[in-house]
Amino acid sequence: LHVAVLMGGWANEREVSLMSGRGVADALELKGYRVTEIDMGRDVAARLAEAAPDVVFNALHGVPGEDGSVQGMLDLMGLAYTHSGLATSVIAIDKQLTKQALVPQGIPMPGGRIVKSADLFERDPLPRPYVLKPVNEGSSVGVAIVTADSDCGNPISRDAPGPWQQFAQLLAEPFIKGRELTAAVIDGEDGPRALGVTELVIDQGFYDYEHKYTEGRTQHVCPAEIPPAIAALCEHYALKAHQVLGCHGTSRTDFRWDDELGEEGLFVLETNTQPGMTPLSLVPEQAKHAGIGYAELVDLLVKEAVR
Ligand code: DAL
Ligand code: MG
Repeated sequence: LHVAVLMGGWANEREVSLMSGRGVADALELKGYRVTEIDMGRDVAARLAEAAPDVVFNALHGVPGEDGSVQGMLDLMGLAYTHSGLATSVIAIDKQLTKQALVPQGIPMPGGRIVKSADLFERDPLPRPYVLKPVNEGSSVGVAIVTADSDCGNPISRDAPGPWQQFAQLLAEPFIKGRELTAAVIDGEDGPRALGVTELVIDQGFYDYEHKYTEGRTQHVCPAEIPPAIAALCEHYALKAHQVLGCHGTSRTDFRWDDELGEEGLFVLETNTQPGMTPLSLVPEQAKHAGIGYAELVDLLVKEAVR
């Protein structure tokens, strides 16, 4: 089988995608596939038409790539591809649309408000502490936590731009104190299954871009040392989110858990339809713990795409 690995592009997560894509391409070669690596540019359709692969491995993260645009192009070209399809991607890339899809299905998520970033100089949209995030970025790009002593709601910060200021609109959510958990789901012949729960323990601050991609900055506790009932609930929500959103291949649902509140303190933050596949990434790590090596996982995703 000839696989084209789509990676890079011009999203803010370009570098992450290149790491995912290179890992995937190496694994596919190991598994005996013919591989064409494509760093996505505006001419991607022409390059795919020329390569004429049997299947496309989508190793893109962020926008474009995780948002349905590339999926729509591949649909029109009649090319099979890994991961989720157009409609799922459009919803899941948008953290506010995701809430609208998941909360009515009984999945607890923090309440959110879309705010104009310019208005943040005038007033706080929510009581502090709260989180500001772009609706459709990944890897914590543009995320800020506004605490009692940070000054982002204060005109003074016009001179000290925060990471959020490059975005005209932001999602404001109450900050959930406590612990950071994540649960991956993979599809198989018997349907989707959850792979377990990982806790991300960080030295200081929050699980931001630097903590995600600098070796040693975050401790991955896999499986998470949490009560079995909480782990089961994480897996249940991850599986349900995967199904409600119509994810395909794999997805990874991220959580915050306020452990003082028990089950009531567990909240889904989002579901990632193009979870990272870098050497430090969480889905490969959980798969490994479940007995599925990296190359096997990549192989499985390709097989799901053509099944
Ligand atoms: N957005 C990054 C790639 C992730 O979810 O792993
Ligand atoms: Mg994400």
